[in-house]
Amino acid sequence: MDALPWLCGWIGINLAKCRFDIKLPNFLTRPGEPGVKHRVISPINHLILSVKSLNHMRQKWSQTITERARSYWTQERTRQLLGDKKLPLLPGEAPVLLRALGLLKADASLPPERMRKYRQINHMLAAVRPALRELAATHRRVDLVDAGCGRSYMTMLVGWWFRQQGVPVRILGIDRDDKIIGQCRRRVEAAGLDDIVRLVAADLQVDLGAVWERAFGQPLGPLHGLFALHACDTATDDAIVLAVAHRAAFIAVAPCCQAELAAAWARRQQEDPGSPMMPLWGSPHLRRTAAATMTDTYRLLVLRACGYEASATEFVEAVHTPKNTLIRATRRNEGDATAARRYWDLCAVLGGVGIGLGERLLSSGSG
Ligand SMILES: C[S@@+](CC[C@H](N)C(=O)[O-])C[C@H]1O[C@@H](n2cnc3c(N)ncnc32)[C@H](O)[C@@H]1O
Repeated sequence: MDALPWLCGWIGINLAKCRFDIKLPNFLTRPGEPGVKHRVISPINHLILSVKSLNHMRQKWSQTITERARSYWTQERTRQLLGDKKLPLLPGEAPVLLRALGLLKADASLPPERMRKYRQINHMLAAVRPALRELAATHRRVDLVDAGCGRSYMTMLVGWWFRQQGVPVRILGIDRDDKIIGQCRRRVEAAGLDDIVRLVAADLQVDLGAVWERAFGQPLGPLHGLFALHACDTATDDAIVLAVAHRAAFIAVAPCCQAELAAAWARRQQEDPGSPMMPLWGSPHLRRTAAATMTDTYRLLVLRACGYEASATEFVEAVHTPKNTLIRATRRNEGDATAARRYWDLCAVLGGVGIGLGERLLSSGSG
C-alpha cells in the first residue's frame, strides 16, 4: 500500500468523529454554571489532542507491524527470500521502515512486485555503506542530501541506517515533484524519521544553503555527502554540481536515462557527415548506449578534475535494473589538472562534443 494513505485517512475519520470531554479551567466557565465538564473542543485543544492521537496511532501502528513481522519472518522464510545472499536490510529487522516505504504489506509479507525495489535499495545501501561508515566515524553529526529523492527510498533508508548506528544525522531530500514530496513526508512521519529527515519540493538548480536553512532552521555547514539515485538525465549532473559547489566529502550517483550527449551526436551527423564517428552517430541504438557510457566516463573525469577520487561500478545485477551503474567519488584534493586535460582531449576525439557538466565545472580547455 502506497505511503500509508489508510493510516492518514483512518486518523482523519476518527478525529472527525471524536468528541472529547474537556475539563475547562475556572476562568472559562461562567459563575453559577453547573458543569466544569463540557463537550467542547477548542481549536488549540483539538490540535493538542490531534498530535497526541497521531503519536499514539503511530506507536500502535509500529507495534503492530513489528509484531506481525516477528511472527511472519521466520528463519525459514528469510532464507527462502534471500537464498545465500547477505543483504543489509532484513524485513524481520526493519519492518517499520519497510512498511512505511510501501515495500511490506500489512501482514508483513513482501510481495513479488516489490522485490525489485527491495533488492535495489539493499544493493545501493551496501555499496555506499563503507563511505557512510567513514562519515559516521569522522563527524559528530553527518549532513547529507538526497538529490531527486522521488519516493525517498534512499533518504529514509540512509536515515534509518544512521539511527541504527546511533550517529546523529540530518538528511535533506529534494525533488521537484511536490505531490510526491507531500506523500513522502507522511512516509517519513510513519517511519518515525521526521526528526532527522526533511523533504523539500524544489529543482536541483537551487540555492542549497537557503533551502537547507529553511528546512532545518540552521545554516548548512560543510556538506558531508550527496547521493542521487536515478535522477533523470542531466539532473544527475545538477546533483554533481551541487555536491562539488558545497565541497561534499562523498558523492554517490546512479545515473538514469542520458539524452544530452546522444542528442548532440545526432545533430553532429548533419554538421559533419564525413566524420569517422558516423557509424556510431548514425545508429540510434548504438548512439544511445555509447552516449550513456561516454557520459559517465566524462563524469568521472570531471569529478577527478574537481579533486575527487572517482570510480564507476555495477551496484546491482542488470536483471534487477539496467540502470545499474554507480559512480562513487570521495574528495581527496583541490583538483587534478591532468584529468581536466583528459576531459577536453576526449571531447576532441569524440567529434568535439562534451557534456554540460564539463562546461559548468571546468574552465574551457583547462582544469
Ligand atoms: C526515477 S526517479 C528516482 C527517484 C528516487 N531517487 C528513487 O531512486 O526512487 C527521478 C526523480 O528525479 C526527480 N527530478 C528529475 N529532475 C529533477 C530536477 N531537475 N530537480 C529536482 N528533481 C528532479 C523527478 O521528479 C523524480 O522524482
